Amino acid sequence: MSIDSQKQAAAEAALQYVPEGCCIGVGTGSTVNHFIAALARHRVPIAGAVSSSEASTRLLQQARIEVIDLNSAGDIEIYVDGADEATRHLQLIKGGGGALTREKIVAAASRRFICIADQSKLVDVLGRFPLPVEVIPMARSYVARQLVKLGGQPVLREGFNTDNGNVILDIHNLKILDPSKLESQLNEITGVVCNGLFARRGADTLLIGTDRGVDVLKP
Ligand code: A5P
Repeated sequence: MSIDSQKQAAAEAALQYVPEGCCIGVGTGSTVNHFIAALARHRVPIAGAVSSSEASTRLLQQARIEVIDLNSAGDIEIYVDGADEATRHLQLIKGGGGALTREKIVAAASRRFICIADQSKLVDVLGRFPLPVEVIPMARSYVARQLVKLGGQPVLREGFNTDNGNVILDIHNLKILDPSKLESQLNEITGVVCNGLFARRGADTLLIGTDRGVDVLKP
């Protein structure tokens, strides 16, 4: 089964977690794109969706799914999103698409986070995928120096601005043995808006598309 078919299988499996008549949170990325397509194809009766990016907003609108402002939505029942890396403890690296800040906000406002991914995303230790950090542009060099002190090699994502008008530093060569601690340390650096570690609030359910079907992982 191709990676894309695995993503599609995980996305389809997430449909059974979608409560009818509710507003749901929708993440960003190629796996979520399959999820949005599946919502439309199966005509799942939801009240609408809070989107984590301009890209997902466009796709939701094309699928004729109402996009609801988070400030009007209250608590959201479930959030469905992909990941760049995931452990069996359901801690994640996200932000490969640069939408990490809005993703973390919608995840925080949601009761359950259903993460959908292909099997290549499952790792024992986070950090092979460069860890994205969203940074206020004027703080870029200062933050990069602090990241080097933490043992990483930050690389500016060239030609990229987030939906919030900020830049991304991707931290290479980290072996993240204590994801929750590193998430907090990064948050404490002045100028950091958000980092792509979803450890303190990881996923509640991880759906991994494999050649044998979809594995369901829980903490
Ligand atoms: C977007 O910023 C990311 O957090 C994505 O959720 C993550 O990169 C997964 O993307 P794919 O589903 O495209 O692999």
